[in-house]
Amino acid sequence: VSFAEFAPRLIAWQRQHGRHGLPWQVDDPYKVWVSEIMLQQTQVSTVLGYYPAFLQRFPDVATLAAAPLDDVLAAWSGLGYYSRARNLHRAAGQVMNEFAGRFPDSQDALMTLCGVGRSTAAAIAAFAFARRAAILDGNVKRVLTRCYGIEGWPGDKAIENQLWTLAEQLLPDSVAHMAAYTQGLMDLGSLLCVRGQPRCGECPMADGCVARAQGRQRALPTARPR
Ligand code: ADE
Repeated sequence: VSFAEFAPRLIAWQRQHGRHGLPWQVDDPYKVWVSEIMLQQTQVSTVLGYYPAFLQRFPDVATLAAAPLDDVLAAWSGLGYYSRARNLHRAAGQVMNEFAGRFPDSQDALMTLCGVGRSTAAAIAAFAFARRAAILDGNVKRVLTRCYGIEGWPGDKAIENQLWTLAEQLLPDSVAHMAAYTQGLMDLGSLLCVRGQPRCGECPMADGCVARAQGRQRALPTARPR
């Protein structure tokens, strides 16, 4: 798929077949941030069971920052990876103290928050502020290595850098569709371009996918060398 064609195809697919109506698909950076931290290591279906109660207990960043850590850990109970909850609480304090209670709106500034890495910062910037920023998580790595036939273990720094560069080259020209584009990339990776047997018959990139043309879907992304 040509670089110019990737975003328009993805956005059109997301409109028709992507996920809509999720409780964090709202215009509130706090709600987007909480969801992205929960979704870092936990599936959408599981997060849906915890997210509403968490937001009810901690409806905004000021409430979260002011709460005892033990209350945050209790509300996180069941989600696992509790360092995420500790970072969430610390980052809420950062937003209050370093950003006067208002979420920063750039990827770089968001990356200064505890627990927010480059991809999570891009997701928040794209969803909450329509910023032109590239995400690159495990699902996205699978989509890109397959579509563009990128060989080599993505955990290797050189390959990862190559994937970040590609992810940035594929961004839509206009910021108007950044939320649909970013959600589309996540949805394509988790709904169609899955590990094992991807559903290429439904994929908007299928006719231009290098892995599919070569029958190498199972071989990409390249496994960790051992
Ligand atoms: N994984 C991480 N962020 C996500 C989101 N916003 N929607 C679906 N899956 C995700």
